[in-house]
Amino acid sequence: MKTQVAIIGAGPSGLLLGQLLQRCGIDNVILERHTPDYVLSRVRAGVLEYGFVNLMREAGVSARMDAEGLEHDGFTLAFQGRRQRVDMMALTGKSVLVYGQTEVTHDLMDARRASGAPILYEATDVQLHDFLDGKPRVTFMHEGQRKTLDCDYIAGCDGFHGVSRQSAPQDRIRNFERVYPFGWLGLLTDTPPVEDELIYVHNPRGFALCSMRSHTRSRYYLQCSLAEHIEEWSDDRFWTELSARLPEDVAAKLQTGPSFEKSIAPLRSFVAEPMRFGKLFLVGDAAHIVPPTGAKGLNLASSDVYTLYHALRGACLDNRPELLDRYSEICLRRVWKAERFSWWMTSLLHAFDGDAFSQRIQQAEQDYYTSTQAGLTTIAENYVGLPYEPVV
Ligand code: APR
Ligand code: PHB
Repeated sequence: MKTQVAIIGAGPSGLLLGQLLQRCGIDNVILERHTPDYVLSRVRAGVLEYGFVNLMREAGVSARMDAEGLEHDGFTLAFQGRRQRVDMMALTGKSVLVYGQTEVTHDLMDARRASGAPILYEATDVQLHDFLDGKPRVTFMHEGQRKTLDCDYIAGCDGFHGVSRQSAPQDRIRNFERVYPFGWLGLLTDTPPVEDELIYVHNPRGFALCSMRSHTRSRYYLQCSLAEHIEEWSDDRFWTELSARLPEDVAAKLQTGPSFEKSIAPLRSFVAEPMRFGKLFLVGDAAHIVPPTGAKGLNLASSDVYTLYHALRGACLDNRPELLDRYSEICLRRVWKAERFSWWMTSLLHAFDGDAFSQRIQQAEQDYYTSTQAGLTTIAENYVGLPYEPVV
C-alpha cells in the first residue's frame, strides 16, 4: 500500500486531519488499533472553542454540530459563598459551543465513510520505520496479515499511550510532566442540566463541575482521591456529595436520576518537545495532555491539526516543504499557553492539602481574578481559545 500521509489513530485528531487532507486532494490512510464502537465509547469533554468549530466547518463536517450544539456566552465560577459569571461574549466578543466529543467523533467517522477514503480499524502492532531521514514506512497487522504502508509523511495522532511518541529517538525528546494528587469522578445522566450554563465550583470538600451535553443530558464531576474505587460510588452517594459542594440555591434545584456512565480519571499535565522528528509529526494527545479543568484537550488537538494541515498543504501542493519546519515551534507556543491556563484553573478551583498560607493565596486569587475586569478578561480570552497562528 502507498499513500502521501499515514495517519496513526482515529480519535478526533486523526479523523479531522484526514478529512481536511482528503478535501484538498492529499491522499491519506488512517490506521486505528481499536474498533469504531470502542473509539466511540470513550466519554470526554464537550466544550468547543470557536477555532475548533471553524475547522469543523472548513472540513465540511459541521452540519449536526451547528444544528445541535448549544452556544454558551458565559459560565459561572462559584466559591466562598459567592458566584461570578464570566461573560465571555461581553469580555471577548466570542462564545463556545457545547457539543460532546463523542458526537464530534461520530460526525467525523460518518464523513470518512462517505468520502470512501481508507481507514483500517483493528490494525495492531503498528511500527514506524525510516521517518528520520529515509522514505517512511508503517508496518502493521490487519486481518491476520502483516502489511506495509509506504508514505511521504506520518501523522502520529494516536493519543498519550500510542506508538508514535514512543518511536521517536528517546535522546532527542524531552518530556515535561506534572501529576495532581486527585482525580475527577464523572457521571452522565439523562436529566436536565441544573442551569443553562456551566458552573465550576470550588468548595473546601473539593471541586465540582456542572456541565451538560444537551437540554436533557447532564454531565457532572467531583474532585476525588486517586485511591477511590468507582464501585464504592453509588449514584446516591454521588448526588449527595455533589449537593454538598454546590451553592445552596443550585443544590436546591438539582434534578437527580440514574447514571448511565460513571468513571474516574486522573489529572495530568504533559508536554513532549519537539513535536516533529523528520517526517513524523506528533498531534494532539500523542504530544500533550492537559487536566480537564479548562476543557482544552480536544481544542488543543485541533490547533495542532490546523497547523499540520496547512504545513502539509504547503509541502504537498505548493512546493513549500519548509513550512513543515515550523510545525513544532508554532504548535508548542500555543500548547504551553493552554497548559498554563489548564494548570492555573486547576490550581484556582481544586481543594489542596496545602498549608494555611497557600489556602489564603488561593482565596485571594479567586477574589482578584473575579472582581477585576482585567482578571475576568484573562479568564474569558483563554477559555474561548487563543487564536491560531498562521502557517506562513
Ligand atoms: N496504533 C493505532 N492506533 C492507536 C495506537 C496504535 N499503536 N495507539 C492508540 N491508537 C488510537 C487509539 O485507539 C485512539 O482511538 O489512537 C487514537 C487516539 O485518540 P485520542 O486518545 O482521542 O487522541 P486525540 O485524537 O489526539 O484526541 C485529543 O480528544 O480524546 C480526546 O482527551 C483527548 O481531548 C483530547 C482530544
Ligand atoms: C464536560 O462537559 O465533560 C466538561 C466541560 C468542561 C470542562 C471539562 C469537562 O472543563
